[in-house]
Amino acid sequence: MTRIAVFASGNGSNAENLIRNLTCGKVVLLLCNKPGAYVLRRARQLNVPTLIFSREELENPDSRNSLSKTLQNNKIDFIILAGFLWKIPEHLIRLWPGKILNIHPALLPQYGGPGMYGDRVHRTVIQNAEKESGITIHVVDPLYDHGQIIFQAKCPVTGSDTPETLAAKIHDLEQLHFPKVADRYISQTLKAPAV
Ligand code: GAR
Repeated sequence: MTRIAVFASGNGSNAENLIRNLTCGKVVLLLCNKPGAYVLRRARQLNVPTLIFSREELENPDSRNSLSKTLQNNKIDFIILAGFLWKIPEHLIRLWPGKILNIHPALLPQYGGPGMYGDRVHRTVIQNAEKESGITIHVVDPLYDHGQIIFQAKCPVTGSDTPETLAAKIHDLEQLHFPKVADRYISQTLKAPAV
């Protein structure tokens, strides 16, 4: 069975969707950097073990409870970032090359990078009078919101949209597509001959 770890920082609607609907494997661990985040309650209700970690544990592979050791001990095959707001350090990318996915609530390469997350993205898209926005699912590389794009879906942005109404459209796209796209990518990656 393919073992998947999901990283999340906040509400966790995407994490819950993945836990409920991925078919290519099982979410065996939910990792969160914020004690008290609602995602922790969602995971516990779905009987997924949770772990809260510090920046030191994420960034320093030699720290006592380093995340790289935790993930290796749990025999994690793939990592999915579902509303996770810290940058993934290079040592994790080297350990899981091409095996870390992220979802971003805009059409990358626009509206990405440090500080561009959640409602801030939607506010900026509206301020710039964009006619469309959407979601991007991409492979994580050492740069923030960068890496091979594997899927995008678009929605219209109208003059009457607010950050809240745009967030709702993006949420619908995320709920519709994320598990299916992750399933397809993981299955194809597992089938690809090792290089
Ligand atoms: C989602 O819209 C996700 O795309 C976004 O945070 C939201 C989390 O919602 N991610 C980023 O902004 C990453 N740069 P959720 O906690 O309900 O899944």
